[in-house]
Amino acid sequence: MPRVSLPITTERLVLRSFLPRDVDDVHAYRSQADVVRYIPGEPRDREQVADLVAHSTTAGLLDDKHTHVTLAVDLDGRVVGDVMLALNGLDGADGKQVELGWVFHPDVQGQGYATEAARALAEVAFAEVGAHRVWAQLEPENTASSRICERLGMRREAYFEKGSWFKGRWTDLAIYAIRADEWASGDRS
Ligand SMILES: CC(C)(COP(=O)(O)OP(=O)(O)OC[C@H]1O[C@@H](n2cnc3c(N)ncnc32)[C@H](O)[C@@H]1OP(=O)(O)O)[C@@H](O)C(=O)NCCC(=O)NCCS
Repeated sequence: MPRVSLPITTERLVLRSFLPRDVDDVHAYRSQADVVRYIPGEPRDREQVADLVAHSTTAGLLDDKHTHVTLAVDLDGRVVGDVMLALNGLDGADGKQVELGWVFHPDVQGQGYATEAARALAEVAFAEVGAHRVWAQLEPENTASSRICERLGMRREAYFEKGSWFKGRWTDLAIYAIRADEWASGDRS
């Protein structure tokens, strides 16, 4: 079974398992309505964040029972966001298709941290997990998120008009993806 070796270190960030001391940092962004607008779940109170942090502790193991890892994004000792790598691909948890997700505190946005973390996670998905294809799903009006996909060299593969029932309304849904061969030959500067 694949395993994500932790921590993942990038130029400015450390992607690691959550620690109990991260609750306040995570609450600072996961409690904001604007931040969770395009991701599952409502704004969380501190206790809900404590549960989330406790349940997200990971050693990086991926198997039939642990089909995803959520990692804290640590910037100089502060958790400024979290990223997800999931094996729940479009055709099941076979480890060959990996979905990525990201959420960051508004006060660190616009500095390339999310792209830096997503790029590192995609590299791990291909190099360590052995993914054939890495993909992401998003609401197209969330252009900050689609720009991350584009910077990683992902293609917009699908656009479902009012094809997703999300938070009580029909929303558009876009699927972005990149295959291992494209990742290996791509220019992602
Ligand atoms: C989606 C989300 C992570 C994007 O955040 P972001 O700050 O725009 O993304 P990045 O951290 O990669 O920053 C990219 C921006 O920083 C700029 N930037 C500034 N300094 C930079 C640097 N040193 N290196 C790279 N980029 C830099 C880039 O030009 C880019 O700006 P642009 O999008 O206007 O072109 C953020 O909006 C978020 O957390 N939203 C809420 C949760 C959410 O919707 N998640 C996705 C659900 S599908």
